[in-house]
Amino acid sequence: MEILSDSVPKALIKQRLDDSENIAAFKNLGKVAKIATSLFISAMSPLPILRYPDPRLHTVAKPVAKVETHHRQLSQAMLKTMYEAEGIGLAATQVDVHERLIVIDVSENRDQPLVLINPEIVWASAETRIGDEGCLSVPGIYDGVERSLAVKVESLDLDGQRQVLEAEGMLAVCIQHEMDHLMGKVFVEYLSPLKRNRIKTKMVKQKKDEEREAVR
Ligand code: NI
Repeated sequence: MEILSDSVPKALIKQRLDDSENIAAFKNLGKVAKIATSLFISAMSPLPILRYPDPRLHTVAKPVAKVETHHRQLSQAMLKTMYEAEGIGLAATQVDVHERLIVIDVSENRDQPLVLINPEIVWASAETRIGDEGCLSVPGIYDGVERSLAVKVESLDLDGQRQVLEAEGMLAVCIQHEMDHLMGKVFVEYLSPLKRNRIKTKMVKQKKDEEREAVR
């Protein structure tokens, strides 16, 4: 998810997951291994992000049966991709991996990565708000979507341990946006058919222009 920073209230994170706790790949590693891992991550290239109206964005993701090494690697690559694209959230669906895994960082300093595997919303506030949203799969488009103000989410962390997150503000919106991706839903589908078709046309044209530019 991409968001206009001045249009949304500052995120209030009730329960924050510590970076080092969240990145299990770093756990129980010696110092040398840690340095090697961070060098590996910084050398890793970002993943290509599927762009709307790519039909693959409408794939429904499967639950992760067991959290394994490749999920840890995927989440690292997704975080890198998200940071480079200056997004605040990314769903595996957007990088053409159809498993229930999302990464988020709504912190100002971009140093509080969250990885949610098999996320489920167990409670959502009845109170909603319409706020502008953007998406790394629909670059340059921002529009209002109605979302619950607060949610409670259960998921697995990178160790396969159950974690519970209570979120409000921007984090709550971001979680709802990313979880929609896992169901094959892009935020423009909340907009009117007229608006959606205009966006579709714009995206197709943009892609053609880019391809033309690339062969030059
Ligand atoms: Ni998105």
